[in-house]
Amino acid sequence: MCGIVGAVAERNVTPILLEGLRRLEYRGYDSAGIAVINPDTCLDRVRRVGKVQALADSLQQTPLKGSTGVAHTRWATHGEPSESNAHPHICNQQVALVHNGIIENHTELRNAQQANGFHFTSETDTEVAVHQIEYYLNQTGDLLEAVRLAVKDFDGAYALGVVAVKQPGRMIATRSGSPLVIGVGIGEYFIASDVTALLPVTRRFIFLEEGDIADITTESLTIYDKAGNVVEREIKESNLSADATAKGEYRHYMLKEIHEQPLCLTDVLEGRIHEGEVIDNSFGPKASEVFERLKQIQIIACGTSYHAGLVARYWLEAITGVPCNVEVASEYRYRNPVLLDDTLVVTISQSGETADTLAALRGIGDRAWKLCICNVPESSLVRESHLTLMTRAGPEIGVASTKAFTTQLMGLMLLMLAIGKHRGLDAERRHAIIEAAYQLPGQIENILSASDQIEQWADAFTDIDNAIFIGRGTLFPIALEGALKLKEISYIHADAYPAGELKHGPIALIDSDLPTVAVACNDGHQEKVKSNIQEILARGGEVYLFADESLDMSELGDNCHVMPLPSVSAEMAPIVYCVPLQLFSYFVAIRKGTDVDQPRNLAKSVTVE
Ligand code: G6P
Repeated sequence: MCGIVGAVAERNVTPILLEGLRRLEYRGYDSAGIAVINPDTCLDRVRRVGKVQALADSLQQTPLKGSTGVAHTRWATHGEPSESNAHPHICNQQVALVHNGIIENHTELRNAQQANGFHFTSETDTEVAVHQIEYYLNQTGDLLEAVRLAVKDFDGAYALGVVAVKQPGRMIATRSGSPLVIGVGIGEYFIASDVTALLPVTRRFIFLEEGDIADITTESLTIYDKAGNVVEREIKESNLSADATAKGEYRHYMLKEIHEQPLCLTDVLEGRIHEGEVIDNSFGPKASEVFERLKQIQIIACGTSYHAGLVARYWLEAITGVPCNVEVASEYRYRNPVLLDDTLVVTISQSGETADTLAALRGIGDRAWKLCICNVPESSLVRESHLTLMTRAGPEIGVASTKAFTTQLMGLMLLMLAIGKHRGLDAERRHAIIEAAYQLPGQIENILSASDQIEQWADAFTDIDNAIFIGRGTLFPIALEGALKLKEISYIHADAYPAGELKHGPIALIDSDLPTVAVACNDGHQEKVKSNIQEILARGGEVYLFADESLDMSELGDNCHVMPLPSVSAEMAPIVYCVPLQLFSYFVAIRKGTDVDQPRNLAKSVTVE
């Protein structure tokens, strides 16, 4: 989703802004732009539809030079991707602004501004923000005061970076509902939507809090909280290196991230197990008390993270006996759900900034304990939760989530074990599960090094328009995730069903043009999955089955292609089985020639509704 970069320095900031935009490409966008205050104290701006490279090419032709500037990648919400809708937006050649979020009362503000003689050049909600700031700047003569007054008029979410021609060497940054960090350099400051944009120039960051406004010059940084008081915000050192976001030897980030999974899964376990037991404190100091008292769990998440939650429900209810609901955040936040006493709300999120998940969490107020499973330590979800578990997957750049998902599953497995300890789950079973978890990285390595067969299967999917995925038990959410991956990066329409539901409708679709991808482990459901596959084969369908190597599938015949997977326990199967499905989608996408890492229309971090 939209990305912001800004800089105030003594040097020309254009290359820094451009590199920052490149590093934010993974968030998803459809146009990009830069504006700087040039040495003659005028605003120069270049905007382009399409990739950051198109912007870079234009900058070769028309270089921009200036030591104060803002830049943006836009993911269209209000108005199509076009040069006039791209940010930065400028008012009267005086103020330039970049915005992430949505100004919900933009129509009302636009009407008032038009009545006041402001001229609009875009269809965006953002343009009202720049006009409103220019309006107050004319009245007050001070950019900080102008931004402070303007944001009071905004309903909705925003992160803003603002510069003004009459105040070169100064930038105002503020956030409410959308993330923004300040990078602290030596005699220079930067802003960005996330730290990865700024890693080449600094590793010292301040994470602005809701409602903060920062007044930034080369010599000083003053942060005001939402009440207008000057506040000190801690500078945090990032342990990410600038090349933490490099592709290395891999053709795509997605492939790199698929291959990182064995290591990432080991990292999730690191320091969280002692003598075969999960350490409750891994979730925070109050975790034991919460795990002891909770009576129900409500999981809230979106997209791939929601699928992780669906797997966890199977684990939590079957193994710990604690009732568990799972819901997508965009529904949960609006439907006035009933929350029983002693509920633990678990949010799952790679980014920790997903607008719907955050709104759902905020809607709960203090009616429940809140635990977040997340990959970004400084994110809003983490900061607003009582308990947390970091998934430690490192930056995930491919829009289609892979390592973030498997590490979420491992985190949820630890949660299940920690809660189970307080619920009479016997020690032998707990130890066996942990033992099996330690085996996972090796088993996944084996799958990764034997991907030829998956590649061959991908050939059969290059020219199809639709596919079905099926699974049972914990592998039903994995079928959902497999279908989502295929949709996301190959643009093939894919739906997933619990295998037992096929005959209640989807089986009507089966013919020789609609392949089915099935997953079956040794979890007691295998014979039932086999029967469902027989039903598909009997109707002329072709099946691609990922199955436990110990299962005999020979009776299914030639139209059921089988890829054996390492024998794993039923609990571990979801973490193992999602990996070949990730590879499968990847190989299909490669054959289709799609933009694997930045698929069309998708955003990595969905910070608006
Ligand atoms: C977007 C991403 C998905 C992700 C979902 C939830 O749709 O493209 O990969 O699963 O948001 O994001 P979160 O950061 O909350 O896990």
